[in-house]
Amino acid sequence: MIDAPLAWLAATPLSRAMRADPWLYPVVEIVHILGFAVLVGSVVLFDLRVLGCARGLSITALASHLLRWALASLLLIVPAGLLLFSAHPEELARNPVFQLKLVLIAAAGLNALAFHIFPYRSVGAWEQGLSAPPAARLHALLSILLWVGVIGCGRLLAYV
Ligand code: HEM
Repeated sequence: MIDAPLAWLAATPLSRAMRADPWLYPVVEIVHILGFAVLVGSVVLFDLRVLGCARGLSITALASHLLRWALASLLLIVPAGLLLFSAHPEELARNPVFQLKLVLIAAAGLNALAFHIFPYRSVGAWEQGLSAPPAARLHALLSILLWVGVIGCGRLLAYV
């Protein structure tokens, strides 16, 4: 059912250019990498704070600094990821590693949402100098594992 739109995408001038131009694909990939370095770097540093590192730092101050950059990085990651996808849409859509990568991205997003809706509501009680509640630490650990999984899948795409 999605074969026709994928074939259409693969035949667009943009998709052809992504395959034919020797510079376009690598430049877009560099933009993708810059974006996810900022995203995963800031998310993991925040998660480590929730897990108990650098307890002297205020969690809310750290969140307002790092999570802003994490959201802004999506402006690089998503368009660049879609452009990379457009180069080989038919192969990638069938690739189980690419499918797993998208599932892990969705799971990481839902995990971040659940963290903000549930344990983060009581952050005033564990803002600084104290251990975060077990639920918050569990979300933080899961977040690190999911993002490492996303990076692993992204890197594996070049080989499978
Ligand atoms: C949101 C966080 C994301 C992370 C952490 C991530 C991570 C990665 C990594 C590590 C690579 C390999 C880079 C390299 O080896 O040079 C990669 C490549 C790629 N990513 Fe992402 N990615 C993300 C989002 C997306 C999205 C939303 C899409 C598209 C819908 C996407 C599509 C691709 C494609 C098509 C490649 C190229 C694979 C190849 O050339 O072999 N990525 N990504």
